[in-house]
Amino acid sequence: MAETTKTATLTIDGVSHDLAMYAPTDGPEVIDIRKLYAQAGVFTYDPGFTSTASCDSTITYIDGEKGILTHRGYPIGQLAKDSHYLEVCYLLLYGELPSAAQLEEFETLVTRHTMIHEQMHNFFRGFRRDAHPMATMVGVVGAMSAFYHDSTDINDPHQREVASIRLIAKMPTIAAMAYKYSIGQPFVYPRNDLDYASNFLRMCFSVPAEEYEVNPILARAMDRIFTLHADHEQNASTSTVRLASSSGANPFACIAAGIACLWGPAHGGANQACLEMLREIGTPDRIPEFIARAKDRNDPFRLMGFGHRVYKNFDPRAKVMKESADEVLDLLGVENNPTLQVAKELERVALEDPYFAEKKLYPNVDFYSGIILDAMGFPTSMFTPIFALARTVGWVSQWKEQLADPQLKIGRPRQLYLGAAQRDYVDIENR
Ligand code: SDX
Repeated sequence: MAETTKTATLTIDGVSHDLAMYAPTDGPEVIDIRKLYAQAGVFTYDPGFTSTASCDSTITYIDGEKGILTHRGYPIGQLAKDSHYLEVCYLLLYGELPSAAQLEEFETLVTRHTMIHEQMHNFFRGFRRDAHPMATMVGVVGAMSAFYHDSTDINDPHQREVASIRLIAKMPTIAAMAYKYSIGQPFVYPRNDLDYASNFLRMCFSVPAEEYEVNPILARAMDRIFTLHADHEQNASTSTVRLASSSGANPFACIAAGIACLWGPAHGGANQACLEMLREIGTPDRIPEFIARAKDRNDPFRLMGFGHRVYKNFDPRAKVMKESADEVLDLLGVENNPTLQVAKELERVALEDPYFAEKKLYPNVDFYSGIILDAMGFPTSMFTPIFALARTVGWVSQWKEQLADPQLKIGRPRQLYLGAAQRDYVDIENR
């Protein structure tokens, strides 16, 4: 727990209440209001949690004004360029970059847990073929609670570790199976001689009828996309995982809850919605029409892939993703990809528009990711499952951190009640 740095004084009806303040390594100081209701009989009010720290954490730091994102202190740009996803997973889980021996042991452990229980294949067959893969992932990941009973006891550190590795290792297999099922192709088993990203690509795109060679360019781009989505402080889906875990729910149920929350178009579903929007725009000459709609308060339309609760500057992940989009499309020979051209022109026009400048709306991680995934051959319905796959390590790391917190209590927010005052029941004949 951070040290008390100073005291804030809140005066209500002439009565002063002293509240402790704590200083972070980086970012805003916090006011500890845990005793406020007991001391002053009042709640704080913060729908959407725009000014509320729900926990303390040592995993990820975001400075929205400066466009900074670090994992255990390491800037995302350096990790995306110089590291790789499983090494970032180790860093997020254990707090330090691994030695060569530690990394080899971790990668071997993950690799050897990539298969799922054979009976779980039946779950997929219970879904309609046209089910959204996110629906399948929520169902199958939640159902892991019904199979992996030896890693559901959250009070056993060994079981927590086994559940963590199983979730990180099996998520690509589950996501790939959801995709294969949706297109009527047979499931492809993972291979232990392939790296994490290559394994996922092969499980998605290979067919029994012929050999499949993983394109190393696509594998590197896929791995980088995983890294850019790995963790992101206390976002909506991570907060969902923490709240579910605070009740003592098992890890698979908690991660299934996180997947369900991520699905929303305001959150992880934005990558699918963004590419669909770019396709709907179609050509640069239609951009003004959509910009006008985005600015119209009476129109619910928003530019998908734009804006962020925290970033009021460029999302550093979007910068890396944009560079990667250029690189991948060039290397794939997808010259002048019309969707990429629309995206770049839309970004240029929006960033020159006072509306977006005043509201500090910039492209976020979802603005360019869909263009790369589309060029790789993924349908838009697989964009958010890939986000969920990559974010699993962040959810798991935050879940582990919360369970190790001696201050852990069940999360139970209060409310500002504006409903009817107490009244007596009226029999139906008297209404
Ligand atoms: C992710 O939290 C995380 O860290 C999430 C994430 C992660 O890694 O976990 O980064 C992943 O979810 C990225 C965000 C993906 N979502 C989208 O791209 C959907 C489009 N963006 C918006 O829905 C919105 O920007 C949010 C939801 C992302 C953020 O919303 P906020 O912080 O609640 O801001 P807001 O809705 O209050 O908007 C502030 C103002 C509003 O105008 P006013 O009411 O003040 O007049 O900006 C406007 C909004 O109307 N606005 C937009 C806009 N986003 C906000 N106007 C047009 N287009 C947009 N995209």
